[in-house]
Amino acid sequence: MTTLLPALRGILASNGQLPRLRLDPAMTTELPALPLPTEATPAAQVAALRAAIPAGAQQVCLAGLGTIRTEFSQGSGRAAGKIALVTGAAQGFGCEIASDLAAQGAWVALADVNVDGARAAAERINAACGRAVAMGVAMNVTDPASVQAALTTVVGALGGLDLLVANAGVLRAGSVKTISAADFDFVTNVNYKGYFLCVQAAAPIMALQHLACPATWFDIIQINSKSGLQGSNRNGAYAGSKFGGVGLTQSFAMELVEDGIKINAICPGNFFDGPLWSDPQNGLFAQYLRTGKVPGALTVADVKRFYEAKVPMGRGCTTPDVMRAIYYLCEQHYETGQTLPVTGGQVMR
Ligand SMILES: NC(=O)c1ccc[n+]([C@@H]2O[C@H](COP(=O)([O-])OP(=O)(O)OC[C@H]3O[C@@H](n4cnc5c(N)ncnc54)[C@H](O)[C@@H]3O)[C@@H](O)[C@H]2O)c1
Repeated sequence: MTTLLPALRGILASNGQLPRLRLDPAMTTELPALPLPTEATPAAQVAALRAAIPAGAQQVCLAGLGTIRTEFSQGSGRAAGKIALVTGAAQGFGCEIASDLAAQGAWVALADVNVDGARAAAERINAACGRAVAMGVAMNVTDPASVQAALTTVVGALGGLDLLVANAGVLRAGSVKTISAADFDFVTNVNYKGYFLCVQAAAPIMALQHLACPATWFDIIQINSKSGLQGSNRNGAYAGSKFGGVGLTQSFAMELVEDGIKINAICPGNFFDGPLWSDPQNGLFAQYLRTGKVPGALTVADVKRFYEAKVPMGRGCTTPDVMRAIYYLCEQHYETGQTLPVTGGQVMR
């Protein structure tokens, strides 16, 4: 399934746009049932399928699998017709990124270890869009089998993948003098290894689509951090994992360019409005107020003002700021391996 449907998406493309595929286990009687390809290599399989499928076909019947129907986007949004997967999408940046992509015409899979949260967020997106454009899927980015299973589900439901937003991330602050090895591993596994595992599972799907439709490019975007560009005091595990993400992005970009995949990272500044900072109980503002980290601060608003004053533009990063960077990177056909700061001038490169 993860090899066949992406290859079919590429073969059934029209004017460079790859369709969403819907698989119906029933066989359509008007169409000849094509045998499943048995050739040894993906390239030979794509060639065999292409030879068997008439140009301009909008549906295909494959023996033992069923009928595969195409659906092309009629929308004009900045993500129209794209199939996107956002990791860590149950809340925070990931949830808002998925919502924006859907509002701009994408089909979106929200993947999260909190699968109930991801499904609830997908339902909210569908209600807002007035049609079923989003799905929630379980994924633990630290577990290769879980990542693979999630991608198999997404490809089975939508046909392939145009955009991976590797957003899942965690933070456990702590001094190098005291942080436990377990906390260090926890952060490194999600932010660094999890990014690698998601790219490793998503890239072959995109590569197959590119093989079948060589003019088309696909995108992987990591949501990194300003802490991937500049050290973070008493927060070394997080900053180290994010610096590592920059190294992975640059290295993978060199390899994956031959498969039609651009891979870039966005480094947002602090997202003060998200739950990580603003959760009334466990958010960083509430924690910093309780622990007296900001001298003289009496309220959460005092703590917030202190952090906003560190940003030359005087405010935190918002999802619209990040979305402008995401759409820029998708639309820019001549960049890969880049890390794009979105920090209001707090970190300059
Ligand atoms: N919040 C900020 O100020 C800020 C600033 C810059 C960059 N970032 C980055 O943006 C991304 C999102 O941050 P956020 O503030 O929205 O975080 P958040 O804590 O609000 O949400 C993170 C999501 O990731 C999910 N998640 C955690 N571990 C997972 C795993 N193993 N597998 C799958 N999902 C998992 C969580 O369930 C949650 O839904 C992170 O990569 C973070 O480093 C955040």
